[in-house]
Amino acid sequence: MSQPVSAVNIVVLASGYGSNLQAIIDAINSNRLSAKLTAVVSDQKNAFALERAQRENVPAIYVNAGKKPDRKEFDRILQEALNGLKFELIILAGFMRILSAEFVERYHGCIMNIHPSLLPRHKGTNTHERVLRDGDDFHGATVHFVTPELDAGPIILQKRFRVAVDDTVMRLEEKVHECEHQIYPQAIQMFAEGLISI
Ligand code: GRF
Repeated sequence: MSQPVSAVNIVVLASGYGSNLQAIIDAINSNRLSAKLTAVVSDQKNAFALERAQRENVPAIYVNAGKKPDRKEFDRILQEALNGLKFELIILAGFMRILSAEFVERYHGCIMNIHPSLLPRHKGTNTHERVLRDGDDFHGATVHFVTPELDAGPIILQKRFRVAVDDTVMRLEEKVHECEHQIYPQAIQMFAEGLISI
């Protein structure tokens, strides 16, 4: 008989709307994902992701790093916020800051990110624009482990779709979001089940 999977404690870092956070919350609440959301942390005071956390009675933490902190200074403040929280996995879900190599190495194998392209194609920003500009046949989303090199960590899951002739940036964004909302909870579940590691 198979053993029940014990829930993985996760902290979600998000800067904005938080639709991926919501997909994770929904997957937990419908028992599709064995995870416990310990906290949501944001670098943006008005991120809707923080409100989504509050609705679930999950601690919503705004990391106030002042006007223009450098990467190390920001990570020091982020680290302070994380100290005392219980988690085995950090989930980047639309978190718009690049973490320092020291921070990433401290949590080696314990940070996941979702990226709006079929990595290694289109690292960085403006992925939908670049897909249209380059006339790509396919587009999609990637969940990967985070390593110090940006958008280059080991790939866990991808979901793709064929680009239609009348697709626009906005339509591609919607389609990519649909992919993301499916594969992010799945990837976290794989981690919870001990099926993946760096
Ligand atoms: C997603 O497309 C993700 O791939 C990118 O930022 C977006 C965040 O969307 N890193 P949301 O805040 O989860 O709605």
